[in-house]
Amino acid sequence: MTVKIIDGKKIAMELKTEIAKQVEEIKAKYFITPSLAVILVGNDPASEVYVSNKERAAHYVGMNSIQYKLAANTSQDELIAKIEELNNDPKIHGILVQLPLPKHINATKIIHTINYQKDVDGFNVINVGKLSIGEVDGKDGAIIPCTPMGCIHLIKSAIGKDLSGLKTLVIGTSNIVGRPLARLLMLENCTVTIANRKTKDLKAECLQSDIIISATGVVGLVKADMVKKDAVIIDVGINRINLEGGKTKLVGDVDFDNLKDKVLAITPVPGGVGPMTIAYLLKNTLEACLKTCS
Ligand SMILES: NC(=O)c1ccc[n+]([C@@H]2O[C@H](COP(=O)([O-])OP(=O)(O)OC[C@H]3O[C@@H](n4cnc5c(N)ncnc54)[C@H](OP(=O)(O)O)[C@@H]3O)[C@@H](O)[C@H]2O)c1
Repeated sequence: MTVKIIDGKKIAMELKTEIAKQVEEIKAKYFITPSLAVILVGNDPASEVYVSNKERAAHYVGMNSIQYKLAANTSQDELIAKIEELNNDPKIHGILVQLPLPKHINATKIIHTINYQKDVDGFNVINVGKLSIGEVDGKDGAIIPCTPMGCIHLIKSAIGKDLSGLKTLVIGTSNIVGRPLARLLMLENCTVTIANRKTKDLKAECLQSDIIISATGVVGLVKADMVKKDAVIIDVGINRINLEGGKTKLVGDVDFDNLKDKVLAITPVPGGVGPMTIAYLLKNTLEACLKTCS
C-alpha cells in the first residue's frame, strides 16, 4: 500500500488557478473585480502575518484586497461603523474581520454585524443557521467556513467524491472548524462522531473511524497505535514547538512521523489544511461576488 501524503499546497494552487480564471471571466463579462475587505484591529504579529498572506493570495487570483488597519484602542462602535460602511459599499463583496479582537470588543457582536452575504468566513449566525439546516445550495445558500470546506476537499482528493457511509471522527468542537465540519460530513452522508476534552476513550473512537480530523491545538494527541490501517487523517492543528538551539517548528495535532507509514492518506503540517483555508476564502469571495452579478 502506498501512503498518500496529501499535498495541500498543490491542491490549493490548483483551486486558486481555477478561481483566477473565473475572476478574469467576471472582469471581462461584468466589468467587476471581486473585492475582499480585511479589517485588522491592533498589531498582533501573528494576525498581521495572516492578513498579509490573505492579501497576497487575493492579488494572486486577480482580486482586490483592501486592508483596514485600525488602532488597538478602536472602540466597538467605531468598528461597527466601519463594517456598516463596507456592508453598504457595492464594490465590496467579502468582509473579513481578523480574529482575535482586543478584549474590549465583543467578537460575536462584530461577526453578526457583517452582512451575511459578505461574510466570507461563514461565521455569521445566518450562515451558521443555513448550514445547520442544510441550506447550502443556490443563490441564498450558506457561506460555509473555509477550513472545513478545505478539509472536505482534501479528503475527496485522497479517496474520491463519495464519502457516504464512512465513519468519521471530528476531534474539536469549535465554531470555526469542528462544528461546521461535522455538519458538512453529515451532508456527505457520513456517520459522524464529535470528540472533545471529556471524551472518555479517544483511542477507541479513533480506532473505529475511517476518517479522523483533528482540530484541537494539542501536540501529539493522535498517535500511531490509535488509528486503524487504511484510515485517512486530516490534521488541522497548528502548533509551534521549541527545538534545541532556540529554534521553533510548526507541527499539527497528530504524530505524523509514525502515522505516515501506516494510514491510507494523511495531511502534513505545514502544507496540508492551511493553504486550503486561504484558497476557500478566495472561493467564498468569488461566489459572493458572482451572486451580485446575475
Ligand atoms: N489550518 C488552519 O487553517 C486552521 C484553521 C483554524 C484553526 N486551526 C488550528 O486548529 C486548532 C484548533 O483550533 P480551533 O480554533 O478550531 O479550536 P479551539 O477553539 O482552540 O478549541 C479546541 C477544541 O479542541 C478540543 N480539545 C482540546 N483538547 C482535547 C483533547 N485532549 N481531547 C479531545 N478534544 C480536545 C476542545 O474540547 P472542549 O470543547 O471540550 O474544550 C475544543 O473543542 C488550533 O491549533 C488552531 O491553530 C488551523
